[in-house]
Amino acid sequence: MDVRIGKLTLSNPTVLAAGILGSAASSLRRIMTCGAGGVVTKSVGLTPREGHPGPVLVETSSGFLNALGLPNAGLAFADELEQLITEAERKPLIVSIFGANADEFVELARTFCRFADALELNLSCPHAQGYGIEVGAEPALVQSITRSVKKQVELPVWVKLTPNVTDITEIGHAAEKGGADAVVAINTVKGMAIDVESGRPVLGNAFGGLSGSAIRPVAVKCVYDLYEALRIPIVGVGGVSSYEDALELIMAGAKAIQIGSAVARDLSIFRSVADGIDRYLARKGITLEDVVGSAHENH
Ligand SMILES: Cc1cc2nc3c(=O)[nH]c(=O)nc-3n(C[C@H](O)[C@H](O)[C@H](O)COP(=O)(O)O)c2cc1C
Repeated sequence: MDVRIGKLTLSNPTVLAAGILGSAASSLRRIMTCGAGGVVTKSVGLTPREGHPGPVLVETSSGFLNALGLPNAGLAFADELEQLITEAERKPLIVSIFGANADEFVELARTFCRFADALELNLSCPHAQGYGIEVGAEPALVQSITRSVKKQVELPVWVKLTPNVTDITEIGHAAEKGGADAVVAINTVKGMAIDVESGRPVLGNAFGGLSGSAIRPVAVKCVYDLYEALRIPIVGVGGVSSYEDALELIMAGAKAIQIGSAVARDLSIFRSVADGIDRYLARKGITLEDVVGSAHENH
């Protein structure tokens, strides 16, 4: 069930989302052997960052809330990731990068383009001051950062969008105008939890980003709107834990989907979602292409 996203071919439509088991070559290697059609790394910046003080992750009755604060090893991560080039079971490796401005993104892109199959620009983290949505909510910045990176590298460039804006299509348009090969929607939804005994915010950073099933309807709507507005492919992400969830995003307009929170419970999720989609297509006698965006015709 090969899926083409621009020039990049995935062996099936399921991809590991950024930030979950993506900080080490060993865990990425493991996901590659678990049936994922591709993997995205944890977002990496120019210099090492420790991230926010703990607690950085809490499970609420509505899903995970996290405010990791983009902890990462900086450019040294490149040496570790490079090992994956020689992997026998290597799947497309998409390196997620973040920066405060175009120059930082360009330097990261130049470093990781040696061995990455695509780059994902994280313009959407909801809880890292000076990065993420502070850059990604501004269409002019999104366009110029995307264009700067595209000028420097031959690789496909995906732009990851935040749902924490009034109109996600405006940001999607900016990415498309900047030359993005695809957009990825969505990053986490801003959220907060308060411990009622102490009266304090639970997360060390006070607020963070919500992920998991609760955000799937938000993701479906964002993908649906982007599909109407853009010509470039969309990769859907948000609350996928079954093949039906994945199909919802695909029917809204996604060509491939990413899985994050659900991986924490079940590493076999990629295989079960891909197999479920396969069986669905066989039962209906249709192809994946037939399903992409089909909800638009049925409305
Ligand atoms: C613990 C955690 C860490 C994350 N780190 C990143 C990150 O480094 N970069 C990024 O673009 N998204 C990050 N995300 C967002 C996910 O890639 C994804 O967009 C979001 O969780 C929605 O998908 P899900 O509901 O399948 O988890 C993170 C999410 C979680 C739960």
